[in-house]
Amino acid sequence: MSKTIIVSNRLPVKISNDEGSLSFSSSEGGLATGLGSIYQDNNNIWIGWPGLEIGDPGQQQEVIENLQSRKLLPVFLTQEEISEYYEGFSNEILWPIFHYYASTYTNYQQSNWDFYQSVNKKFSDAVLSIVEAGDTIWIHDYQLLLLPGMIRARQPKVTIGFFLHIPFPSYEMFRLIPWRAELLEGMLGADLVGFHTYDDVQHFINAVVRILPHNSSSNVITVKDRPVVAEAFPMGIDDQKYASLPERPEVQEQITHLKENFLNQKVILSVDRLDYSKGILQRLMAFEQLLALYPEYVEKIVLYMIVVPSRDAVPQYKELRNEIDKRVGNINSLYRTMDWTPIHYFYRSFPIETLSALYNMAHVGLVTPMRDGMNLVSKEFVASKTENTGVLILSEMAGASKELLDALIVNPNNIGEIIQAIVTALNMPEEEQKNRMEQMRLVVSQFNVFHWVKVYMDKLAEVKELQKSMQSRNVDSVVAKRIRSNYLAAKKRILFLDYDGTLVGFNANINKATPDLDLYDIIKRLVQDEKNKVVVISGRDYKKLEEWFGNTGVHMISEHGAWQRSKDQPWESIRGLNDQWKEDIFPILKTYVDRTPGAFIEEKSFSLVWHYRKAQNGLGELRSNELINNLAYLTKDRGLQLLPGNKVIEIKNIEVNKGKAALGCLYSDDYDFVLAIGDDDTDEDIFKALPETAYTIKVGSTVSAAAYYLRSPNEVRNFLRELSEPV
Ligand code: UDP
Ligand code: G6P
Repeated sequence: MSKTIIVSNRLPVKISNDEGSLSFSSSEGGLATGLGSIYQDNNNIWIGWPGLEIGDPGQQQEVIENLQSRKLLPVFLTQEEISEYYEGFSNEILWPIFHYYASTYTNYQQSNWDFYQSVNKKFSDAVLSIVEAGDTIWIHDYQLLLLPGMIRARQPKVTIGFFLHIPFPSYEMFRLIPWRAELLEGMLGADLVGFHTYDDVQHFINAVVRILPHNSSSNVITVKDRPVVAEAFPMGIDDQKYASLPERPEVQEQITHLKENFLNQKVILSVDRLDYSKGILQRLMAFEQLLALYPEYVEKIVLYMIVVPSRDAVPQYKELRNEIDKRVGNINSLYRTMDWTPIHYFYRSFPIETLSALYNMAHVGLVTPMRDGMNLVSKEFVASKTENTGVLILSEMAGASKELLDALIVNPNNIGEIIQAIVTALNMPEEEQKNRMEQMRLVVSQFNVFHWVKVYMDKLAEVKELQKSMQSRNVDSVVAKRIRSNYLAAKKRILFLDYDGTLVGFNANINKATPDLDLYDIIKRLVQDEKNKVVVISGRDYKKLEEWFGNTGVHMISEHGAWQRSKDQPWESIRGLNDQWKEDIFPILKTYVDRTPGAFIEEKSFSLVWHYRKAQNGLGELRSNELINNLAYLTKDRGLQLLPGNKVIEIKNIEVNKGKAALGCLYSDDYDFVLAIGDDDTDEDIFKALPETAYTIKVGSTVSAAAYYLRSPNEVRNFLRELSEPV
C-alpha cells in the first residue's frame, strides 16, 4: 500500500534530556500542532528532527524505537548543524526576510548556507531510504526549501508536494538573499507548491519568473517541460477537537477556576511563541496606553499573556525575551493594586486542556502579529467559543485575517487602533458578539484541517495527471514519425505557421526578427510540394509580410486575419472593418509610452499594439496591467478586443481573429492533412477553431489548447525539415 511521507524540520514530538533520561512531549508551533491531528489517521510516516542533539548511538537507538511506534522517523542533527542550519540559516536569515524583517545588518554567512545544503541533503537521504513507488512525499516549511529539488534529482517521477507555513515575501525582499535562485529551484522540485494566501502565491510566481528562466501561465510554472502548480491552501485546524474540549470535566474544572479568579474582570488573552514577528511588545505598549487613557479599566480587565519559549539560542529571541520581561515588570509595577495585577504573564507552554479553558472563558482574543503566515491561535480561539460569545481582535498581517472577516481587524503598527479595538471589544453587545462569532465559527469549521489536506492532495493528484498528459503531448521522434506518415499519405495538405516565436525566435527589436536563409529554404521545400498549401499566419502588418514572403508562394494572413493574400492575388482586407476607434485609443497608449521608457506603439491598419519588450523588467508588466484595466470598458463599448501577448498588448476589432481566418482557408478545399503551429495566445484561437483531426502544435510546453508541443523555433524548423524530407 502506498504511503504519504510527511517531512518537516521539527517532528510533532520533541525530546528533552532530564539528567540523562529522555522524555517526550508535544512540539509547539502551528506546523506541528496543525498536522499533528491528521498524520496518524492514515498510512503516513513523518520524518523530522526531534528537537535536541542526541549524539550517543545508544540513545539514538532508544529514540528511533520509541518514535517508530508513533510512525515518526528521526533525523539527528549535530550541535554544529543545529546552530548553522537551524538557528543560523533558517532562523537568522530566512525567517526575518520572509517576515519582512530584513536589515542591512543581516549576515549572510557562507557557512550557514553550506550547512543548510548539507542538512537538506541529510533529510533527502532519509526520505530516499524509505520511499517506494507510488508514495507521496509532502515537505513542509522554510527549513527545507532545497529538499524537493534534491529528491526530484534522484527520483524524477516521484510525487512531491511542498507547503510553506510562513509568508512568501515580495520579490524586493526575496531578491536580497544571495542564494535566491537555488532556493527557488529547490522549491520547484515539487509538483505542487502550496501557500496560505493568494498574495504569497503571487509573490512566489513573481520571484520565479524574474529570477529564473522559467515561463508561467497564470499559476502554472513550466520547469523543463514539467508543469509545477503554485496555489493557496489556507490551513485550518481540527475545529471539532477545540469545540469538544470545553465539555471535558478537567477543562470544565479549569474554566470554573479561572472564572472565579477573574470575577468581575474581563480577560484579554494573548498566546504566542516567543517571536518578534508576533508583535508582543507592540501589544504591551497598547495595553499600557489603554490603562493610562482609560483609568476606569483599572481592576476591570487583565491581560493573560502566554509566551511559549522558542529558538532561545538565537540572539534576537533572547533579547526579545528580556525586553518582554522588563516591560511586563514595568507595567505591573506601575498599575498593580492590592487586589489586582494587570498582566498575568507566563513564559512556558501549557497543555491543550489549559489552553482550551483559557480560549473558552476569555472575553477578548488579542492576536496582533506584525506578520504571520496563517496564525492558528486565532482559529483555535474561535473554535473554542462554544457559546459564540467573545471577540477576536486580529492583525491584518496574519493570513487568517483573509478568512476571519468578522474579527475586529487592526493594523498591528497602529497602537491607537489596537487600543480602540480593545475598547470596542470590551463594550460589544452580546448580540453582535454572537453574530460575528457564529460567522467565524462557520468558516473555521468548514475549512478545517481535514478539508485542507483533502483539497491539497486532490490538487496534487490533478497536477500529476496534468504532467502525464503534458508528457504525451511532446512531439518526440515517435510522434513526429506518426505525423510524417500521415503527411505522406495525404492528398491535400494545409499548414498554418505563425511567424514570431514560431519560425523565428523572440527579438527585442521587432525589425530584427527577419527570416534567414535557412527558414527560406524550409519554406521553399514545403511550397514546392504541390499537395501543400502553406499559410503564414501572423499578427504582423501586411507590408512586412509582403516584404518577407511576397515572392515565396505562401498564402499570407496578416494582422491576425484582417488581411489576406492568396498566391498570385493582391492583398484583401476583411470587408466593413472600421478603424475610427484608433483616434480614441491612440492617445491613451501614448500616455503609457510617455510613462514607460522603452515602450512604443505599432500602428497597423486595423489594430494598435503597445510593445514593452524593451522596457525595464517589471515596469513593463506593471504598466501593461494598468493599461489593461484602463482600456477594459472602453474596448468593450467599441467592439474591440484586448489581446495580451508576449510583451505586447494588442487592441483590434473583435471580428478579426486568427481562428476565423484559418477556418476560412480550410473550407476553400478538401484537406486531409491539417497542421497548425504557433506560440502565442492569439494562436490558441487557431488551435480551438480547427477540427479535432488537425495536428495542433504549441511552441513552449505551457498550458494550451494544442494537442502537442515543441520547445522552440529551432525544434519547429527541425520538425518541418524532417516533415518535408523527400521519401
Ligand atoms: N501552542 C502550544 N502550546 C502552548 C501554546 C500554544 O502548543 O503552550 C500551540 C497553539 O495551540 C498553536 C501553535 O502553538 O496551535 C501556534 O501556532 P500559530 O500558527 O499560531 O503560530 P506559529 O507558532 O506557528 O508561528
Ligand atoms: C512556525 C514555523 C514552523 C516551526 C514553528 C516552531 O510555526 O512555521 O516550521 O516548527 O514555528 O518553531 P521551531 O523553530 O521551534 O520549530
